[in-house]
Amino acid sequence: MFDEFSVGDRRIVIRGICPDDKEKLLEFYEKLRDETIYTRFFSIIRHFAPYVKRLISSSNIYAVIAEDASTGDIVGVAELVVDESGAAEGGIVVLEEMQGKGIGSRLADTLARIAREKGIRKVYGYIMADNIRALRLVKKLGGRPRNYYSSMIYVEIPLGGGECS
Ligand SMILES: CC(C)(COP(=O)(O)OP(=O)(O)OC[C@H]1O[C@@H](n2cnc3c(N)ncnc32)[C@H](O)[C@@H]1OP(=O)(O)O)[C@@H](O)C(=O)NCCC(=O)NCCS
Repeated sequence: MFDEFSVGDRRIVIRGICPDDKEKLLEFYEKLRDETIYTRFFSIIRHFAPYVKRLISSSNIYAVIAEDASTGDIVGVAELVVDESGAAEGGIVVLEEMQGKGIGSRLADTLARIAREKGIRKVYGYIMADNIRALRLVKKLGGRPRNYYSSMIYVEIPLGGGECS
C-alpha cells in the first residue's frame, strides 16, 4: 500500500494494480462520463478492455488505484508509461463525484514517489489548457508547461533520476 487517508467518512487506500482488479477497473472506466474520458484521453473510448489489459500486464507501466477501503470500489487510477528514453508519460483520472477532494493530489504524489524509486528522470504529460485541477497538480510537483498547442499544454515534471535506469 502506498497511502491511506480519509475523504469525508470514506477511507481511501492507494495501492498497486493487481491482475484480479480487471473487472473492477472495467467497471470504473465504463462509469466515467464522456467529458471525463475526453479530458483524460483526448478521445472517446468505448471499449476499455485492451487498455485495462495493458495497465495490468505491461512491464513498462506502473499503475496504482485509489479505492474505497470498505466497498473496494475504485475511485481513481494513475499510471506512468515508461518510454525508451527513461522518461514516463503520466496520467490520472478520478471518478467525477470524488473529484476536488484531494484524491488526485495523493495519486500524483504516489506517481512521483514511484518515479523517483524507479529512477525515472522525468514525467511528462498533456493537459487541456482549461484543466485547472490538473495544472495545479503539475505545479505542486514542481512541473511546468513546456509547449502550448491550441487547446492543450505539454508539461514536464523533472525528478532528477538517472538516465534510462
Ligand atoms: C485532474 C484530476 C486528476 C485531479 O484530481 P482531483 O482529485 O479532482 O484533484 P484534487 O482534489 O487533488 O485537487 C487538485 C488541485 O486542484 C484544486 N482544485 C480542486 N477543485 C478545484 C476547482 N473547482 N477549481 C479550482 N481548483 C480546484 C485543488 O485545490 C488542488 O490544488 P491545491 O492543492 O493547490 O489547492 C481530476 O479532476 C480528474 O480526474 N479529471 C479528469 C481527468 C483529467 O483531467 N486527468 C488529468 C490529465 S491526465
